[in-house]
Amino acid sequence: MIDRARRMKPVVPPRMLHDIFTPEENRRLFHILRTNGPWRLIAAIYFKSVEELLAISSPGAGGTRPRSLSDMLNPSFRGFFGNHGLPYEEEAHEIFYSRKLVDLVKSMHGARYGTPYLFQFNIQGPCHGYDPGHFDGRSWRGLDPTNMPAWLGAVMAKSGLFDAWEVKAGQVISYYYPSDVDGGFTYWPDGPEAAPQRMAAPFWNSGLLTDNQHMYHRGEACGPRDRRDTPDGMTLDSVLEADGEQGWRVVDGDRLIARYQPSDMRILFHYSAHVFTDMDELKLFYDHKDDLTIERAFDMLIADLKRRGVGFAMPGDPMTDRAFIATLTETYAMSPSHYPAEAPLDVRPAIAA
Ligand SMILES: [Fe+2]
Repeated sequence: MIDRARRMKPVVPPRMLHDIFTPEENRRLFHILRTNGPWRLIAAIYFKSVEELLAISSPGAGGTRPRSLSDMLNPSFRGFFGNHGLPYEEEAHEIFYSRKLVDLVKSMHGARYGTPYLFQFNIQGPCHGYDPGHFDGRSWRGLDPTNMPAWLGAVMAKSGLFDAWEVKAGQVISYYYPSDVDGGFTYWPDGPEAAPQRMAAPFWNSGLLTDNQHMYHRGEACGPRDRRDTPDGMTLDSVLEADGEQGWRVVDGDRLIARYQPSDMRILFHYSAHVFTDMDELKLFYDHKDDLTIERAFDMLIADLKRRGVGFAMPGDPMTDRAFIATLTETYAMSPSHYPAEAPLDVRPAIAA
């Protein structure tokens, strides 16, 4: 029997943080956002099909089931200051390797050793609250978000079959949303079936120390309420870039899709570290003594489907077989069921036939 509640509870509840970065660190990070774009849509970075996206974030009850990724577009863009422990942006080097950040994550786990893993940012235009809640990509020895698709990581996490290979981690999230029009953070610290809690906006250089890989959470609807519909003409190829001194614009090839004021945007910086309780745990990871492989992960998932008596056609290529991905998503289905009264789950309008 799957103990779902235990699997999707953080190691400790999230803790609110203020003044996360120094003024100089914020200046550098925002300078990268302004000068090194354009930035791609989150959906375009991670997903090849709607089935892959639904493995991460299943629609709430009553929601319209999307038929393609294009039905799920919203102006949420992402870039990377660094990944896999490596700074990608020169100006962010010292911030990614900040002792303050790694020590915060170590403190969550009582861990002795730690190393920066991922440092990314989201820039979000005005948007409805369509995210029903999700958890962030997890790392196992041998497999992590840098060498496997996001949908497979989500299925592996929900299945619980791979917990013995898991790498401890935690996040420092810093929000920048000066408005008090919605825009908060909902989280489910007691598991997806329990009541959520939320942190309300405004935020500026404030956020949380959190175990987002074991806790359902979501950014709530944000931006001016009359601008939250997906901009006409936006596609998976649309990108965000700086517009003038302070604004932003969405462009698609040579088409201008939308323009935003800085006050319309919600920005977050997301830092994640891997940590190790002791030298034995550290060596197990770095010496690759007990790594998972993609082949072994699929063998274990397929064996589990058979044990459960789930009917499915053996996939030719399990990595891209949409029916197989949908079967796994359904088998390990899990999703929040309660939402804060102040931040309901918005339902997408019906899709025209
Ligand atoms: Fe997240």
